[in-house]
Amino acid sequence: MSTIKVAILGFGTVGEGVYKTIQSHQEKLKGVLGKSVEVAAVLVKNKHKKRDINEGILVTEDFEEILNLKELDVVVEAIVGENPAFSYLEKAIQKGCHIITANKEMFALHGTTLQKLADEHQVSVGFEATVAGGVPVIQTVQQLLNINQIIKMEGILNGTSNYILTEMRANQVSFSEALEAAQVKGYAEADPTNDVEGYDAFYKLMILSEIAFGEKPDWSNVPREGITEITPEQIKEAEKLGLRFKLIASIEQSQGEIKGYVRPTLVSESHPLYHIEGVENSVSIEADIVGRITLQGPGAGMLPTTSAVIEDLIHVVLGNGQQAIFSGVPSGLLKQDEKQQQKWLIMNKNGVLLTSSSSAQKESHVLVKADEPTIHTLRDDNKQASFFQVLGEMKSNLFVRNDSA
Ligand SMILES: NC(=O)c1ccc[n+]([C@@H]2O[C@H](COP(=O)([O-])OP(=O)(O)OC[C@H]3O[C@@H](n4cnc5c(N)ncnc54)[C@H](OP(=O)(O)O)[C@@H]3O)[C@@H](O)[C@H]2O)c1
Repeated sequence: MSTIKVAILGFGTVGEGVYKTIQSHQEKLKGVLGKSVEVAAVLVKNKHKKRDINEGILVTEDFEEILNLKELDVVVEAIVGENPAFSYLEKAIQKGCHIITANKEMFALHGTTLQKLADEHQVSVGFEATVAGGVPVIQTVQQLLNINQIIKMEGILNGTSNYILTEMRANQVSFSEALEAAQVKGYAEADPTNDVEGYDAFYKLMILSEIAFGEKPDWSNVPREGITEITPEQIKEAEKLGLRFKLIASIEQSQGEIKGYVRPTLVSESHPLYHIEGVENSVSIEADIVGRITLQGPGAGMLPTTSAVIEDLIHVVLGNGQQAIFSGVPSGLLKQDEKQQQKWLIMNKNGVLLTSSSSAQKESHVLVKADEPTIHTLRDDNKQASFFQVLGEMKSNLFVRNDSA
Protein backbone atom coordinates (compact mmCIF):
# COMPACT_ATOMS: atom_id res chain seq x y z
CA MET A 1 0.00 0.00 0.00
CA SER A 2 1.79 3.11 -1.19
CA THR A 3 -1.14 5.40 -0.39
CA ILE A 4 -3.32 5.26 2.70
CA LYS A 5 -6.95 5.67 1.62
CA VAL A 6 -9.20 7.31 4.20
CA ALA A 7 -12.97 7.82 4.33
CA ILE A 8 -14.33 10.54 6.62
CA LEU A 9 -17.85 10.07 7.98
CA GLY A 10 -19.24 13.52 8.79
CA PHE A 11 -18.01 16.87 7.53
CA GLY A 12 -18.82 19.15 10.45
CA THR A 13 -16.35 20.76 12.87
CA VAL A 14 -14.30 17.58 13.30
CA GLY A 15 -14.70 15.95 9.85
CA GLU A 16 -13.77 19.12 8.01
CA GLY A 17 -10.82 19.71 10.33
CA VAL A 18 -9.51 16.21 9.63
CA TYR A 19 -9.99 16.69 5.87
CA LYS A 20 -8.16 20.02 5.83
CA THR A 21 -5.31 18.79 8.03
CA ILE A 22 -4.74 15.73 5.85
CA GLN A 23 -4.51 18.09 2.83
CA SER A 24 -2.27 20.63 4.54
CA HIS A 25 0.05 18.11 6.25
CA GLN A 26 0.73 15.77 3.33
CA GLU A 27 4.50 16.13 3.52
CA LYS A 28 4.63 15.64 7.27
CA LEU A 29 2.38 12.55 7.11
CA LYS A 30 4.49 11.12 4.30
CA GLY A 31 7.61 11.70 6.37
CA VAL A 32 6.15 9.86 9.38
CA LEU A 33 4.29 7.09 7.56
CA GLY A 34 6.45 6.66 4.47
CA LYS A 35 3.22 6.81 2.47
CA SER A 36 0.89 9.53 1.36
CA VAL A 37 -2.58 9.84 2.82
CA GLU A 38 -5.52 10.36 0.49
CA VAL A 39 -9.12 11.17 1.42
CA ALA A 40 -11.08 8.86 -0.87
CA ALA A 41 -14.62 9.61 0.34
CA VAL A 42 -16.70 11.80 2.62
CA LEU A 43 -20.07 10.75 4.06
CA VAL A 44 -22.60 13.49 4.90
CA LYS A 45 -26.28 13.78 5.67
CA ASN A 46 -26.96 16.25 2.90
CA LYS A 47 -24.68 16.00 -0.11
CA HIS A 48 -26.19 19.11 -1.73
CA LYS A 49 -24.73 21.43 0.93
CA LYS A 50 -21.89 23.49 -0.52
CA ARG A 51 -18.55 22.28 0.85
CA ASP A 52 -14.90 22.88 0.13
CA ILE A 53 -14.02 19.35 -1.01
CA ASN A 54 -11.69 18.63 -3.94
CA GLU A 55 -13.17 17.22 -7.13
CA GLY A 56 -12.63 13.52 -7.56
CA ILE A 57 -13.41 12.75 -3.93
CA LEU A 58 -16.60 10.76 -3.49
CA VAL A 59 -19.13 12.79 -1.46
CA THR A 60 -22.11 10.62 -0.60
CA GLU A 61 -25.08 10.15 1.72
CA ASP A 62 -24.93 6.39 1.20
CA PHE A 63 -22.45 4.47 3.37
CA GLU A 64 -22.73 1.42 1.07
CA GLU A 65 -20.93 3.44 -1.63
CA ILE A 66 -18.02 3.86 0.76
CA LEU A 67 -18.01 0.17 1.66
CA ASN A 68 -17.92 -0.65 -2.04
CA LEU A 69 -14.71 1.30 -2.61
CA LYS A 70 -12.06 -1.09 -3.89
CA GLU A 71 -9.35 0.31 -1.70
CA LEU A 72 -9.99 1.70 1.75
CA ASP A 73 -7.67 1.51 4.74
CA VAL A 74 -9.04 3.79 7.45
CA VAL A 75 -12.53 5.04 8.31
CA VAL A 76 -12.67 8.19 10.47
CA GLU A 77 -16.07 8.65 12.10
CA ALA A 78 -17.12 12.16 13.15
CA ILE A 79 -20.92 12.09 13.10
CA VAL A 80 -23.20 12.56 16.06
CA GLY A 81 -24.99 10.03 18.28
CA GLU A 82 -25.13 6.26 18.68
CA ASN A 83 -26.53 5.24 15.35
CA PRO A 84 -25.93 4.88 12.48
CA ALA A 85 -22.34 5.59 13.59
CA PHE A 86 -21.99 2.26 15.41
CA SER A 87 -23.33 0.12 12.55
CA TYR A 88 -21.13 1.97 10.03
CA LEU A 89 -18.03 1.27 12.09
CA GLU A 90 -18.97 -2.40 12.54
CA LYS A 91 -19.21 -2.72 8.78
CA ALA A 92 -15.95 -0.83 8.25
CA ILE A 93 -14.12 -3.24 10.57
CA GLN A 94 -15.68 -6.24 8.81
CA LYS A 95 -14.31 -4.82 5.55
CA GLY A 96 -10.85 -4.84 7.16
CA CYS A 97 -10.47 -1.11 7.82
CA HIS A 98 -8.89 0.50 10.84
CA ILE A 99 -11.38 2.81 12.51
CA ILE A 100 -10.97 6.12 14.33
CA THR A 101 -13.82 7.84 16.14
CA ALA A 102 -14.47 11.16 17.87
CA ASN A 103 -17.98 10.12 18.89
CA LYS A 104 -18.02 9.65 22.69
CA GLU A 105 -21.69 8.74 23.05
CA MET A 106 -21.41 5.92 20.52
CA PHE A 107 -18.05 4.77 21.87
CA ALA A 108 -19.14 4.79 25.52
CA LEU A 109 -22.00 2.48 24.51
CA HIS A 110 -20.23 0.26 21.98
CA GLY A 111 -16.48 0.70 22.41
CA THR A 112 -16.00 -2.77 23.88
CA THR A 113 -17.91 -4.46 21.04
CA LEU A 114 -16.01 -2.52 18.40
CA GLN A 115 -12.68 -3.30 20.04
CA LYS A 116 -13.50 -7.02 20.17
CA LEU A 117 -14.57 -7.05 16.54
CA ALA A 118 -11.44 -5.14 15.57
CA ASP A 119 -9.25 -7.70 17.36
CA GLU A 120 -10.98 -10.50 15.44
CA HIS A 121 -10.31 -8.70 12.17
CA GLN A 122 -6.80 -7.64 13.18
CA VAL A 123 -7.40 -3.96 12.72
CA SER A 124 -6.99 -1.07 15.17
CA VAL A 125 -9.36 1.32 16.88
CA GLY A 126 -8.41 4.94 17.59
CA PHE A 127 -10.55 6.91 20.01
CA GLU A 128 -8.28 9.58 21.50
CA ALA A 129 -10.64 12.34 20.33
CA THR A 130 -13.56 10.94 22.35
CA VAL A 131 -12.14 12.19 25.66
CA ALA A 132 -10.93 15.75 26.29
CA GLY A 133 -10.42 16.64 22.61
CA GLY A 134 -6.80 17.57 22.05
CA VAL A 135 -5.53 16.40 25.44
CA PRO A 136 -3.73 13.06 24.95
CA VAL A 137 -5.41 11.27 27.87
CA ILE A 138 -6.03 7.89 26.26
CA GLN A 139 -2.49 7.42 24.99
CA THR A 140 -1.07 8.60 28.32
CA VAL A 141 -3.18 6.14 30.32
CA GLN A 142 -2.31 3.30 27.95
CA GLN A 143 1.36 4.15 28.20
CA LEU A 144 1.15 4.26 32.01
CA LEU A 145 -0.60 0.87 32.10
CA ASN A 146 2.54 -0.81 30.78
CA ILE A 147 3.84 -0.74 34.32
CA ASN A 148 1.45 1.23 36.55
CA GLN A 149 -1.94 0.47 37.93
CA ILE A 150 -4.41 3.28 37.70
CA ILE A 151 -6.00 4.01 41.05
CA LYS A 152 -8.16 6.97 40.23
CA MET A 153 -8.93 9.50 37.52
CA GLU A 154 -10.56 12.83 38.16
CA GLY A 155 -11.23 15.41 35.54
CA ILE A 156 -12.96 18.38 34.08
CA LEU A 157 -14.17 16.77 30.89
CA ASN A 158 -16.71 19.28 29.64
CA GLY A 159 -15.44 22.68 28.54
CA THR A 160 -18.91 24.23 28.17
CA SER A 161 -19.90 23.69 31.79
CA ASN A 162 -16.47 24.75 33.02
CA TYR A 163 -16.81 27.95 31.00
CA ILE A 164 -20.24 28.61 32.53
CA LEU A 165 -19.00 28.04 36.09
CA THR A 166 -15.99 30.28 35.46
CA GLU A 167 -18.22 33.05 34.06
CA MET A 168 -20.65 32.77 36.98
CA ARG A 169 -17.82 33.20 39.47
CA ALA A 170 -15.63 35.74 37.68
CA ASN A 171 -18.47 38.00 36.45
CA GLN A 172 -21.07 37.23 39.14
CA VAL A 173 -23.76 36.31 36.61
CA SER A 174 -26.56 33.75 36.75
CA PHE A 175 -26.45 30.33 35.13
CA SER A 176 -28.69 31.47 32.25
CA GLU A 177 -26.59 34.59 31.57
CA ALA A 178 -23.41 32.51 31.53
CA LEU A 179 -25.04 29.92 29.26
CA GLU A 180 -26.06 32.67 26.85
CA ALA A 181 -22.46 33.95 26.77
CA ALA A 182 -21.28 30.39 26.03
CA GLN A 183 -23.78 30.13 23.17
CA VAL A 184 -22.71 33.49 21.69
CA LYS A 185 -19.08 32.33 21.75
CA GLY A 186 -20.00 29.03 20.09
CA TYR A 187 -19.00 26.95 23.15
CA ALA A 188 -22.54 25.72 23.79
CA GLU A 189 -25.05 24.24 21.37
CA ALA A 190 -28.60 25.58 20.97
CA ASP A 191 -29.65 22.58 23.07
CA PRO A 192 -27.01 22.47 25.82
CA THR A 193 -28.52 19.54 27.77
CA ASN A 194 -25.69 17.09 27.04
CA ASP A 195 -23.10 19.51 28.38
CA VAL A 196 -24.81 21.16 31.35
CA GLU A 197 -26.56 18.05 32.65
CA GLY A 198 -23.33 16.07 32.71
CA TYR A 199 -24.12 13.49 29.98
CA ASP A 200 -21.12 14.44 27.86
CA ALA A 201 -18.74 14.13 30.83
CA PHE A 202 -20.45 10.86 31.81
CA TYR A 203 -19.81 9.24 28.38
CA LYS A 204 -16.17 10.30 28.53
CA LEU A 205 -15.85 8.94 32.06
CA MET A 206 -17.18 5.55 30.98
CA ILE A 207 -14.59 5.42 28.19
CA LEU A 208 -11.85 6.24 30.72
CA SER A 209 -13.11 3.53 33.04
CA GLU A 210 -12.91 0.94 30.28
CA ILE A 211 -9.32 1.86 29.43
CA ALA A 212 -8.05 2.08 32.98
CA PHE A 213 -9.94 -0.76 34.67
CA GLY A 214 -11.03 -2.95 31.76
CA GLU A 215 -14.71 -2.44 32.51
CA LYS A 216 -17.35 0.14 33.20
CA PRO A 217 -19.40 0.31 36.36
CA ASP A 218 -23.11 -0.33 36.05
CA TRP A 219 -24.25 3.00 34.54
CA SER A 220 -27.23 3.21 36.86
CA ASN A 221 -24.87 3.18 39.87
CA VAL A 222 -22.93 6.21 38.68
CA PRO A 223 -24.52 9.44 39.96
CA ARG A 224 -24.75 12.06 37.23
CA GLU A 225 -25.64 15.61 38.15
CA GLY A 226 -25.29 18.74 36.06
CA ILE A 227 -24.60 22.35 36.96
CA THR A 228 -28.01 23.91 36.29
CA GLU A 229 -28.98 24.12 39.96
CA ILE A 230 -25.91 25.99 41.18
CA THR A 231 -26.73 29.54 42.26
CA PRO A 232 -24.48 32.64 42.19
CA GLU A 233 -24.99 32.85 45.96
CA GLN A 234 -23.56 29.36 46.46
CA ILE A 235 -20.59 30.24 44.27
CA LYS A 236 -19.96 33.38 46.34
CA GLU A 237 -20.27 31.50 49.61
CA ALA A 238 -17.83 28.82 48.44
CA GLU A 239 -15.38 31.46 47.27
CA LYS A 240 -15.23 32.86 50.79
CA LEU A 241 -13.82 29.50 51.84
CA GLY A 242 -11.32 29.50 48.97
CA LEU A 243 -13.33 26.92 47.02
CA ARG A 244 -14.37 26.80 43.37
CA PHE A 245 -17.18 24.81 41.76
CA LYS A 246 -16.11 22.39 39.04
CA LEU A 247 -18.13 19.73 37.25
CA ILE A 248 -15.92 16.81 38.25
CA ALA A 249 -16.02 13.41 36.62
CA SER A 250 -14.31 10.85 38.82
CA ILE A 251 -13.66 7.12 38.52
CA GLU A 252 -11.71 4.87 40.85
CA GLN A 253 -11.20 1.25 41.67
CA SER A 254 -11.43 0.33 45.30
CA GLN A 255 -11.53 -3.23 46.63
CA GLY A 256 -12.34 -4.63 43.23
CA GLU A 257 -15.26 -2.26 42.76
CA ILE A 258 -15.36 0.58 40.28
CA LYS A 259 -16.97 3.72 41.61
CA GLY A 260 -17.60 6.91 39.74
CA TYR A 261 -19.61 10.08 39.60
CA VAL A 262 -20.21 13.21 37.59
CA ARG A 263 -21.33 16.09 39.77
CA PRO A 264 -20.61 19.66 40.77
CA THR A 265 -17.81 19.52 43.29
CA LEU A 266 -15.86 22.10 45.24
CA VAL A 267 -12.09 22.19 44.91
CA SER A 268 -9.59 24.04 47.03
CA GLU A 269 -6.49 25.78 45.73
CA SER A 270 -4.24 22.83 46.55
CA HIS A 271 -6.12 20.64 44.07
CA PRO A 272 -4.76 20.48 40.48
CA LEU A 273 -8.21 21.13 38.97
CA TYR A 274 -8.72 24.40 40.89
CA HIS A 275 -6.94 26.50 38.26
CA ILE A 276 -8.64 24.94 35.22
CA GLU A 277 -10.74 27.79 33.89
CA GLY A 278 -12.96 28.55 30.89
CA VAL A 279 -13.29 25.89 28.18
CA GLU A 280 -10.13 24.05 29.21
CA ASN A 281 -10.26 20.36 30.07
CA SER A 282 -8.02 18.54 32.50
CA VAL A 283 -7.55 15.02 33.76
CA SER A 284 -5.67 14.13 36.89
CA ILE A 285 -4.48 10.52 36.89
CA GLU A 286 -3.36 8.75 40.05
CA ALA A 287 -1.31 5.63 39.52
CA ASP A 288 0.54 3.38 41.94
CA ILE A 289 4.11 3.97 40.78
CA VAL A 290 4.16 7.36 39.13
CA GLY A 291 1.84 9.09 41.62
CA ARG A 292 -0.31 11.88 40.25
CA ILE A 293 -0.08 13.26 36.71
CA THR A 294 -2.29 16.10 35.54
CA LEU A 295 -2.93 16.79 31.88
CA GLN A 296 -4.53 20.01 30.73
CA GLY A 297 -5.51 21.48 27.37
CA PRO A 298 -8.23 22.32 24.88
CA GLY A 299 -11.08 19.84 25.23
CA ALA A 300 -12.87 20.61 21.99
CA GLY A 301 -12.73 22.66 18.81
CA MET A 302 -11.73 21.89 15.24
CA LEU A 303 -7.97 21.87 15.51
CA PRO A 304 -7.43 20.25 18.95
CA THR A 305 -9.84 17.44 18.09
CA THR A 306 -8.30 17.02 14.66
CA SER A 307 -4.89 16.76 16.27
CA ALA A 308 -6.12 13.77 18.32
CA VAL A 309 -7.63 12.09 15.22
CA ILE A 310 -4.47 12.55 13.17
CA GLU A 311 -2.34 11.17 16.03
CA ASP A 312 -4.63 8.13 15.98
CA LEU A 313 -4.26 7.89 12.20
CA ILE A 314 -0.50 7.64 12.59
CA HIS A 315 -0.81 5.02 15.32
CA VAL A 316 -3.26 2.78 13.49
CA VAL A 317 -1.31 2.95 10.23
CA LEU A 318 2.02 2.26 11.92
CA GLY A 319 0.48 -0.74 13.61
CA ASN A 320 0.78 0.43 17.20
CA GLY A 321 -2.85 1.38 17.47
CA GLN A 322 -4.93 1.02 20.57
CA GLN A 323 -5.30 -2.73 20.79
CA ALA A 324 -6.34 -4.35 24.05
CA ILE A 325 -8.00 -1.60 26.04
CA PHE A 326 -6.79 -2.99 29.34
CA SER A 327 -3.77 -4.84 30.65
CA GLY A 328 -5.48 -6.35 33.71
CA VAL A 329 -5.33 -5.49 37.39
CA PRO A 330 -5.03 -8.23 40.00
CA SER A 331 -8.09 -7.41 42.06
CA GLY A 332 -7.55 -6.74 45.74
CA LEU A 333 -4.20 -5.10 45.16
CA LEU A 334 -5.68 -1.66 45.53
CA LYS A 335 -7.32 -2.25 48.88
CA GLN A 336 -8.09 1.02 50.57
CA ASP A 337 -9.59 2.03 53.86
CA GLU A 338 -13.29 1.24 53.59
CA LYS A 339 -14.20 4.04 55.96
CA GLN A 340 -12.60 6.66 53.79
CA GLN A 341 -13.69 10.03 54.97
CA GLN A 342 -14.75 12.68 52.52
CA LYS A 343 -15.16 16.41 52.98
CA TRP A 344 -18.50 17.95 52.09
CA LEU A 345 -19.88 21.49 52.09
CA ILE A 346 -23.61 21.73 52.74
CA MET A 347 -25.56 24.86 51.82
CA ASN A 348 -29.02 25.87 50.83
CA LYS A 349 -29.85 27.49 47.48
CA ASN A 350 -29.01 30.98 48.68
CA GLY A 351 -25.71 29.80 50.07
CA VAL A 352 -26.83 30.95 53.54
CA LEU A 353 -28.79 30.10 56.66
CA LEU A 354 -28.41 26.40 57.13
CA THR A 355 -28.61 25.21 60.70
CA SER A 356 -25.68 23.26 61.99
CA SER A 357 -27.06 20.46 64.13
CA SER A 358 -23.87 20.32 66.22
CA SER A 359 -23.93 24.00 67.19
CA ALA A 360 -27.67 24.61 66.90
CA GLN A 361 -26.76 27.93 65.39
CA LYS A 362 -27.62 29.40 62.06
CA GLU A 363 -24.58 28.92 59.86
CA SER A 364 -23.99 30.07 56.33
CA HIS A 365 -22.82 26.58 55.51
CA VAL A 366 -21.79 23.37 57.18
CA LEU A 367 -18.50 21.69 56.40
CA VAL A 368 -18.41 18.05 57.40
CA LYS A 369 -15.99 15.18 57.21
CA ALA A 370 -17.82 11.89 56.99
CA ASP A 371 -17.83 8.56 55.21
CA GLU A 372 -20.13 7.82 52.29
CA PRO A 373 -23.00 6.13 54.17
CA THR A 374 -23.12 9.06 56.59
CA ILE A 375 -23.36 11.51 53.72
CA HIS A 376 -26.24 9.47 52.26
CA THR A 377 -28.06 9.69 55.59
CA LEU A 378 -27.42 13.41 55.91
CA ARG A 379 -28.70 13.92 52.38
CA ASP A 380 -31.87 11.99 53.12
CA ASP A 381 -32.43 14.07 56.26
CA ASN A 382 -31.74 17.40 54.56
CA LYS A 383 -33.57 17.24 51.24
CA GLN A 384 -33.66 21.03 50.84
CA ALA A 385 -29.90 21.39 51.13
CA SER A 386 -27.24 21.14 48.42
CA PHE A 387 -24.34 18.81 49.12
CA PHE A 388 -21.01 19.37 47.40
CA GLN A 389 -17.96 17.22 47.91
CA VAL A 390 -14.74 19.16 48.53
CA LEU A 391 -11.49 18.05 46.92
CA GLY A 392 -8.07 19.30 47.99
CA GLU A 393 -6.69 20.39 51.33
CA MET A 394 -8.63 22.65 53.73
CA LYS A 395 -7.84 23.98 57.18
CA SER A 396 -9.24 21.48 59.67
CA ASN A 397 -10.62 24.21 61.99
CA LEU A 398 -13.17 25.12 59.32
CA PHE A 399 -15.09 21.90 59.89
CA VAL A 400 -18.02 22.08 62.25
CA ARG A 401 -18.35 18.31 62.45
CA ASN A 402 -15.38 16.07 62.48
CA ASP A 403 -17.03 12.76 63.14
CA SER A 404 -18.99 10.19 61.20
CA ALA A 405 -22.20 10.58 63.14
N1 LIG B 1 -16.88 19.65 17.90
C1 LIG B 1 -15.93 19.26 18.76
O1 LIG B 1 -15.13 20.07 19.24
C2 LIG B 1 -15.80 17.82 19.16
C3 LIG B 1 -14.76 17.43 20.02
C4 LIG B 1 -14.61 16.07 20.35
C5 LIG B 1 -15.51 15.16 19.85
N2 LIG B 1 -16.54 15.57 19.05
C6 LIG B 1 -17.47 14.55 18.55
O2 LIG B 1 -17.25 14.42 17.14
C7 LIG B 1 -18.47 14.13 16.48
C8 LIG B 1 -18.72 15.18 15.40
O3 LIG B 1 -18.84 16.45 16.03
P1 LIG B 1 -18.95 17.78 15.17
O4 LIG B 1 -18.88 18.90 16.14
O5 LIG B 1 -17.99 17.75 14.03
O6 LIG B 1 -20.45 17.66 14.62
P2 LIG B 1 -21.18 18.58 13.57
O7 LIG B 1 -20.40 19.83 13.33
O8 LIG B 1 -22.59 18.67 13.96
O9 LIG B 1 -21.09 17.72 12.21
C9 LIG B 1 -21.71 16.48 12.08
C10 LIG B 1 -21.47 15.99 10.64
O10 LIG B 1 -21.99 14.66 10.56
C11 LIG B 1 -22.86 14.56 9.43
N3 LIG B 1 -23.91 13.60 9.81
C12 LIG B 1 -24.73 13.66 10.88
N4 LIG B 1 -25.53 12.58 10.91
C13 LIG B 1 -25.20 11.84 9.83
C14 LIG B 1 -25.67 10.62 9.28
N5 LIG B 1 -26.66 9.94 9.86
N6 LIG B 1 -25.09 10.15 8.15
C15 LIG B 1 -24.10 10.84 7.56
N7 LIG B 1 -23.61 12.01 8.02
C16 LIG B 1 -24.16 12.48 9.14
C17 LIG B 1 -23.40 15.94 9.18
O11 LIG B 1 -23.76 16.04 7.81
P3 LIG B 1 -24.33 17.40 7.16
O12 LIG B 1 -23.15 18.32 7.11
O13 LIG B 1 -24.82 17.00 5.82
O14 LIG B 1 -25.40 17.88 8.08
C18 LIG B 1 -22.17 16.80 9.55
O15 LIG B 1 -21.32 16.95 8.45
C19 LIG B 1 -19.55 14.10 17.56
O16 LIG B 1 -19.79 12.77 17.93
C20 LIG B 1 -18.94 14.89 18.70
O17 LIG B 1 -19.41 14.47 19.96
C21 LIG B 1 -16.70 16.87 18.70
